[in-house]
Amino acid sequence: MSSTKKSAKTCWLILIVVGGIFAVIVVAAATRFLVDSPVDYANIEEHFKYGSTGGERESGFPYWIWKALPRVCEDKLPEGKKYPGQELKALGFIYEGDMALPVGMSKRRHMGVDRVFLNCAVCHTSTVRDTAASAPNVYLGMPANTVDLMGFERFLFGCAKDGKFSTDFIIPEIQQLGGDLGLIDRYLVYPIAISLARERLLMLASRFQFMLEQPDWGPGRVDTFGSAKTLFNFFPNRPVPEKERVGVADFPSIWLQGPKKGMQLHWDGNNTSVEERNRSAAFGTGATPPTLDRPRIKRIEDWLLTKEPPAYPYPIDHALVAKGKPVYVRYCANCHGTDGRKFDGEKVGKVTPIEDIRTDPHRLDSYTEQVAVNQNLLYAGFGEERFSHFRKTFGYANMPLDGLWLRAPYLHNGSIPTLRDLLDSAEQRPKTFYRGNDVYDPINVGFESSVPEENGKKFFLFRTLDEQRKRIPGNSNQGHEGPKYGTALSTPEKEALIEYLKTF
Ligand code: HEC
Ligand code: HEC
Repeated sequence: MSSTKKSAKTCWLILIVVGGIFAVIVVAAATRFLVDSPVDYANIEEHFKYGSTGGERESGFPYWIWKALPRVCEDKLPEGKKYPGQELKALGFIYEGDMALPVGMSKRRHMGVDRVFLNCAVCHTSTVRDTAASAPNVYLGMPANTVDLMGFERFLFGCAKDGKFSTDFIIPEIQQLGGDLGLIDRYLVYPIAISLARERLLMLASRFQFMLEQPDWGPGRVDTFGSAKTLFNFFPNRPVPEKERVGVADFPSIWLQGPKKGMQLHWDGNNTSVEERNRSAAFGTGATPPTLDRPRIKRIEDWLLTKEPPAYPYPIDHALVAKGKPVYVRYCANCHGTDGRKFDGEKVGKVTPIEDIRTDPHRLDSYTEQVAVNQNLLYAGFGEERFSHFRKTFGYANMPLDGLWLRAPYLHNGSIPTLRDLLDSAEQRPKTFYRGNDVYDPINVGFESSVPEENGKKFFLFRTLDEQRKRIPGNSNQGHEGPKYGTALSTPEKEALIEYLKTF
């Protein structure tokens, strides 16, 4: 064999070996970094509580950073130390057993790390206790009355602004927690992830600033379309009129979506499509058109179509119910449906003008024509998923009252603690009360709202007026008053009506 032939052969051999090694590295890197697999749950209720909607792909925190943050920034979570490993209990998040993530958070392996983010259950699940000494029951689909999202944002943004949000502080906490990071994670993946997470939080903090300047939401409420406005860059590029600035709303219940198809819903009735309301909600879980996990969100959608609210678990006086039914049918059924399951009635799923309902106008005014126009551009490029049903309305929706007992505090802004108070005139309704307690009050039908604290945990003082006795924007408890709204009924009629509403 000539020497040129020999060296050609050696060249080939080297090439094959190098190519082989390269291929092994590529495959190893691909299995490490290209895997996209969420933690799945066969049971639909578990899926609702802990399953993925795709939000982790874009918005997810690496799991170990997430677990380390409450320890690194414990001063930003005043009560966090009380609940080691389940620190977000301090903000009203629900933890079952010794779970490491609360109800309403999902996990997915994406880009080489386990990442976590919120799902629908964080805003649409809560607990009920019979007494302060009872164990909590978890109810899926009810408003998340105890979860303080404003506190949650303040914690995250506050932490990002702190110098401790850095590799030097976070990595040692992760190792202490048992994170056991390998060399590549420790010196490459996590330092990059920590700096990206911090930058992203700082960016969001500046965009969300206008929301954090609003009067405290307290637990169970959020500025629904505020995040959409930040997404569209409304702030700070355009001065926003005072009356559009506070869009705070109570979390609603989301049962029985099937029979609600075609109704004008959201509190102001701005959308008639169940599917679009769900896709819009998915933004709240961090999922955008390219990252939405369609099959997994479809599972939730399908389940919600027929998901029944839980029945009222306390004694009901059926003789009184029989007296309450005709009162309800006469005054309320036309707007709210025949009962808790039959959503017929001429005006059900339509909007009552603000001049008539006269409840707090801020949530309505915060949703402008311009937001609607911009929202109808969302999902453009995604075929028939493109939003097309958002409209500006001029009042609040007459919604079905299914599962009403779990929907307290009442009205779109959660300004009225109990059904009994709703049937009083605004003059007589409480001007302040406590939110965030999950102990049930079957006498007045709502949650315990007069207890300021329990075992050192302070409940949120909801105020309708500020120190100067001026109305707090978004917190008015007026409206839904007058003869047709039941506030002029006699006391026995009100008693009977309240009893009937327990059966919804
Ligand atoms: C950040 C909290 C939050 C998350 C997360 C969230 N929602 Fe909601 N959801 C709300 C609020 C607040 C409203 C009321 C909006 C309004 O009209 O102001 C709402 C309204 C709805 C409605 C309409 C209810 C009605 O009758 O008017 C549906 C349906 C719904 N959400 C489903 C979902 C689904 C499905 C998910 C998960 C993909 C989800 N939501 C995630 C807060 C949330
Ligand atoms: C003209 C239509 C109309 C009539 C009549 C009416 N309501 Fe309403 N109701 C509404 C609207 C609109 C809202 C939402 C107002 C808001 O949240 O600002 C509402 C809200 C409610 C809520 C709060 C629901 C929640 O999830 O917070 C309850 C409870 C309620 N109504 C009960 C009644 C009862 C009981 C009667 C009869 C005595 C009645 N309504 C009569 C239109 C009506």
